Amino acid sequence: MRERIEQLMDEVKKASPTGAEAIEAFRIKYLGRKGELKALAEDFKSVANDQKREMGQLLNELKKNITAKVEELKNAGEEQTSAATGEDLTRPHGDLPIGARHPISIVRREILDIFARIGFTVAEGPEVEDDWHVFSGLNFPPEHPARDMQDTFFVEGDDRLLRTHTSSVQVREMEHRDPPIRIVMPGRVFRNEAVSARSHCAFHQVEGLYIDKDVSFADLKQTLLYFAQEFFGKAKIRLRPSYFPFTEPSAEMDVYWGLETETDYRITKGTGWLEVLGCGMVDPNVLKASGIDPEVYTGFAFGMGIERIAMLRYQIGDLRMFFENDARFLKQFTSVS
Ligand code: DAH
Repeated sequence: MRERIEQLMDEVKKASPTGAEAIEAFRIKYLGRKGELKALAEDFKSVANDQKREMGQLLNELKKNITAKVEELKNAGEEQTSAATGEDLTRPHGDLPIGARHPISIVRREILDIFARIGFTVAEGPEVEDDWHVFSGLNFPPEHPARDMQDTFFVEGDDRLLRTHTSSVQVREMEHRDPPIRIVMPGRVFRNEAVSARSHCAFHQVEGLYIDKDVSFADLKQTLLYFAQEFFGKAKIRLRPSYFPFTEPSAEMDVYWGLETETDYRITKGTGWLEVLGCGMVDPNVLKASGIDPEVYTGFAFGMGIERIAMLRYQIGDLRMFFENDARFLKQFTSVS
C-alpha cells in the first residue's frame, strides 16, 4: 500500500492537465466517488493494526496534495484565460450605474461659487423658525398685510412656523455678528401653495447680505451685474422699483435675455427681459432690530429662487420636474464638480 501511495504522489506531482475539462477529469480520477483515494480507503481497512497510524498519515498527505494540486491547476487556468482574453477576471461583473447631481444642487453650488469669488461666505439657519426671524425682525409689523405676501405653514404651538424665505437667516446672522457681514444663505423654504407648474409648497432660495460702512445702491447693482454675467453670461440688467418690508428702496432685477430665438420670445413674453430676483437696501429698522446701528452701517440684500434660476438656465417649463426624481430627467444634467 505504501508503494501505491508513493506512486500516486509522484503521479499527481507530475500531472499537468490543462483546460477546465481536463482538470475536472483529473479531480474525478483521484477524488471522485470511484477514484483512487476511495480505492485506497478500501485497502486501508485490511492494513495491519500496527501500520494503520502511519498509513493513515500517508493517505491524508496524499489527499491534501491532490486537493492542493486541483486548486493550483484551476487558478493557473483562470490566469491563462484572463491573459488570453485580456480580461480581468477579478473585476466585479457589470457596469455600475453612476449617479448625477441634482440640477438644484448644481445651480446652488454655482451660485455660491460665484459669490465666493467676491468674498461672500456661506451661512445657514433652521427651517423651523419663529415669527421674529421670519417676520417681525424683518420689519413686518403684526397684522401688517405684507404678511399675506407669503402663505405660511404654522407648526403646533403659537410661535413655530416653517420659514417662508431665507431672509430669516439674515436676522440670525446680524444678531450674532458685527459688520462687515458679507454672506450668502442657501436653504429650503416652505409656503402654503398648491403644487403646479409654477409653484410648489417647498422650494429653495439663496439670500445675500452685505453690511458695512458706506455700502451703497451702486454696490448692490454692481454685485448683481457681476452675478448675471457670471451665471447667465448676460451683460445687461435692469432694476425695477418694487416693495419688500425689509428693504428700502426695493427692486426687482431683470436680465436682458435677448429676442433672438422663438424661445427667447416666448419666455420673455416678447419683451426680451426676464425677472430673476428681489433686492434692495436693508431697511434701517431691520438693522436696528438686530442691534446694528443704521447711523454707522448700511447694507444691501437680495434673494432668489434656485428653482426659478435653474428653470431659466436649463429651459425647464415645469417646476414639478425637480421634485419627481425621474432618473431620465436627472441624468441629463452634468456638473464638473
Ligand atoms: N425674501 C424675498 C422672497 O422670498 C426675496 C427677497 C427680496 C430677499 C428682496 C431679499 C430682498 O433679501 O432684499 O420673496
